[in-house]
Amino acid sequence: MRPRVSAIEKKLRSNLLPFGVRAMAERDLSQLAEIERDAFPALFPPTSFRREMRNRLANYLVAWRRDGASQRDTSIEDGAEPDSDARPRISRLLRSARSVWTRHYTTWEPGQDFLAGFVGTWYMDDEAHIVAVGVRAEYQGQGIGELLLIAAIEHAMGRSTRVVTLEVRVSNIAAKSLYKKYGFSAKGIRKRYYTDNREDALIMTTEPIQVPPYPAQFGAAVQDHERRWRHAERLLS
Ligand SMILES: CC(C)(COP(=O)(O)OP(=O)(O)OC[C@H]1O[C@@H](n2cnc3c(N)ncnc32)[C@H](O)[C@@H]1OP(=O)(O)O)[C@@H](O)C(=O)NCCC(=O)NCCS
Repeated sequence: MRPRVSAIEKKLRSNLLPFGVRAMAERDLSQLAEIERDAFPALFPPTSFRREMRNRLANYLVAWRRDGASQRDTSIEDGAEPDSDARPRISRLLRSARSVWTRHYTTWEPGQDFLAGFVGTWYMDDEAHIVAVGVRAEYQGQGIGELLLIAAIEHAMGRSTRVVTLEVRVSNIAAKSLYKKYGFSAKGIRKRYYTDNREDALIMTTEPIQVPPYPAQFGAAVQDHERRWRHAERLLS
């Protein structure tokens, strides 16, 4: 028999995004490798997430589906209405085609948390360096990458981090746009940084995150995300 859900609990659940963020765990390793292959098809060699788990300087967070692992639904439209028309139709069609493919070739199994994406950060001195943010192609454009970035910055704010930095391909319009929303600006170029196509990397850095005006600007961006996609549970430690 299904457990009864109280009206208050129902209301609370519908006000929450079906995805939450939590720290990576050993049981996530195969899905993380799968997400990386999906989000970064040209990456070689692949990340050893097992080694990253033991790396004391690294912190990895995952976006996982809170509303029941068996509901592997690519839409997160229950509750508030996400702005799904914001993306061009062709990219939605491509996402659906890839979704059919990945549904058949996933390491996810019923009973496991279903993961949609991850963010990895390395802490060095007073800097947090975001090494990767990746979302399964079929879940892109639904606020999950932004949620992961929010969680990574919040995690950095909880430590004595001064700034958050990252590198991004100069051609990666989507990622650059996401980072700009959270106050990252271009601080330099690493010539021919990426080995697959010798593409340049843009070095992007935030202003100091612990002192005004950054916390207020960050808070406003987080509120905008919550208004659009609903609040997401974040368990960062
Ligand atoms: C980049 C990435 C992490 C964004 O995640 P996402 O879940 O698709 O993005 P979201 O739905 O959270 O969108 C957040 C913001 O990202 C930007 N963005 C996302 N998709 C975009 C697109 N197709 N075109 C332009 N901007 C886009 C926008 O600024 C967007 O904010 P808006 O909706 O207010 O315009 C995801 O597309 C991805 O995994 N890409 C492949 C891997 C990668 O390039 N990672 C980044 C380099 S480390």
